Amino acid sequence: MRAKILEDRGEAHLAGIAVVGCQWGDEGKGKVVDYLAERADCVVRFQGGSNAGHTVVVNGEAYRFHLIPSGALHNKKLFLGNGVVVDPEVLVDEIDALKTRGINPKLLVSDRAHVTLPFHKILDGLQEDFKGELSAGTTKRGIGPTYADKISRLGIRVVDLMNREVLEKKLDKLVGLNNKVLRHVFGSTESLERDRILEECLKYGSSLREYVGDVSLEVNKCLDAGETVLFEGAQGTMLDVDHGVYPFGTSSNSTVGGALTGVGIGPTKITEVIGVAKAYTTRVGNGPLPTEESGELGDKLRSKGEEYGTTTGRPRRCGWFDAVTVKYAARVNGLTGLALTKTDVLGGFDRVRICVGYEYNGELVDEHPADLGVFRKCRPVYDDYEGWPDLPTDEWRRIARQGFSALPRQLKSYLGMIEELTGVYVALVSVGPMREETVLARKIR
Ligand code: GDP
Ligand code: IMO
Ligand code: MG
Repeated sequence: MRAKILEDRGEAHLAGIAVVGCQWGDEGKGKVVDYLAERADCVVRFQGGSNAGHTVVVNGEAYRFHLIPSGALHNKKLFLGNGVVVDPEVLVDEIDALKTRGINPKLLVSDRAHVTLPFHKILDGLQEDFKGELSAGTTKRGIGPTYADKISRLGIRVVDLMNREVLEKKLDKLVGLNNKVLRHVFGSTESLERDRILEECLKYGSSLREYVGDVSLEVNKCLDAGETVLFEGAQGTMLDVDHGVYPFGTSSNSTVGGALTGVGIGPTKITEVIGVAKAYTTRVGNGPLPTEESGELGDKLRSKGEEYGTTTGRPRRCGWFDAVTVKYAARVNGLTGLALTKTDVLGGFDRVRICVGYEYNGELVDEHPADLGVFRKCRPVYDDYEGWPDLPTDEWRRIARQGFSALPRQLKSYLGMIEELTGVYVALVSVGPMREETVLARKIR
C-alpha cells in the first residue's frame, strides 16, 4: 500500500491545490499557503469566517489574517467563496490594514456568502454559556449562529447588503425572531433595533460593493485558463462539523469537500490535497484530546512553540503527534501530501513520541470512534523515537537552503515514521515561521 500511495506523481500540470488542516486547527496553514502562493495565481478561502487566524511571517513581521486569504502578501488574486461567513467589520478592517501597508488587495467576495452581524456574536456567547460542559469553547465570532441562520434560510447574504428592499424584508423576520430568542430563551434585556442594523448593513454594502461578485464563475475561469489556484482551508479536520469530534468543533466543513460546495467547483478541479499537520498536537477550546499533556511537557511545548491562539490569545492545549488522527485526516481528505510544521519546536527532546493507536477497554483501536463516550476513554499508545538537536534559527535556515537531505538524521526518520503510519508522503517540512524556513521534500505542482 505504501509504495502505491507514495509513488511520485511526476510533473503533470496540477492546477487546483487544496490546503487543509489535519488536526484541531492552527497547524500552520497560513504559513504553508503563503509559501505555496508564490507560484500560484489565486488563493481562495472556502469556509469558516473570522474564527480563523492565519499567521504569515515575512521579513520578521507577522501578519494575522482572519478572512483575507493568505496569498495577500504576494498580491495574488484573492477570493472568499460562498461557503465563508463574512463579518463585514473584520473584512473592512483587514482590507484597510493591507492598504496602509501599501497592498491594494485584488479581492472578490462571493455575493452568495452569508454575513455575520453583531447579534450573531452575542448569541454565540449566550449559547456557549447555556451549553455548559457541551460547549466547544468557541471563538465567539458568531460563526455557529451565522451558519444556523444560513441553514434555516433566514440568513443575510453579501448581495443583500446592497439591496435595501430585500434587506428590510429579511431583517424584519431575522430581527423579530432573534429578539424573541434573546428575551424568552435567554431572558436578556437586550433588544435589537431593526433600523439601526439595516443602516449598518447598507453602510457595509457600500464599502464592500467594489469587491463583490460571482466567485464560482471567476474561479472556474482561472482554472480553465490553466492558472494555479490554492484553496485555503480554515480550522482543521477534527473541527469539521461532520468529520470532527462533534460537538466540539466548528459549524462548517473544513475538510476538502467544503472547497467544492464552498466555492462552486467540481471535484475534478482539485488535483492535489495537502494536509498541514504540526509535528505535535495542539488545540484551543474544549473536547477530548487523547495525547494532551497537561504537565511539564505540555507547558514546555506551549512556551517553546508559542502556543497561544491567533484569534483569541487563549493558551493552546499541547501533546505528542497523534498518527491515528492524521491518518484519519488523510482518509477523509484524500491527501496527496503532508506539510509538517514546527519541527524546529520539537528539537531538543531526548526522545519524541508518536501515538500509534488508542487503548480502549483493553483493545487497540486505530480509528477515530464516533461515540464521544468511547473517544473520551481512549488512551494513547506510544512508540518512542530518538529526538533531534535544538538548533538555532540560523542553523535551521542554513538547512532549509540546503534542502531535505540536510535535515537532522533523526528528524528524517521521524518523518519516515509519519509517512508509514499515515500512508501519505511528506511534501513539505517547515522548520520555522518564516517563508525561507521551509524545505520542499517533493515538487508540488
Ligand atoms: P493556521 O491557523 O493553521 O494558519 O496557524 P496559526 O497561524 O494560527 O498558528 C501557527 C503558528 O505557528 C503561527 O504563529 C506561525 O507563525 C507559527 N509557525 C508556522 N510554522 C512554523 C514552524 O515551522 N516553526 C515555528 N517555530 N513556528 C511556525
Ligand atoms: P484556524 O483557521 C483553532 C475552535 C474553537 C472551538 C471550536 C468552535 O486558525 O486554524 P467556532 O468559533 O468556530 O464556533 O469555535 O473550534 N476553532 C479553532 N481552533 N484554529 C481555528 O482556526 C479555529 N476556529 C475555531 O476554539 O473549540
Ligand atoms: Mg490559526
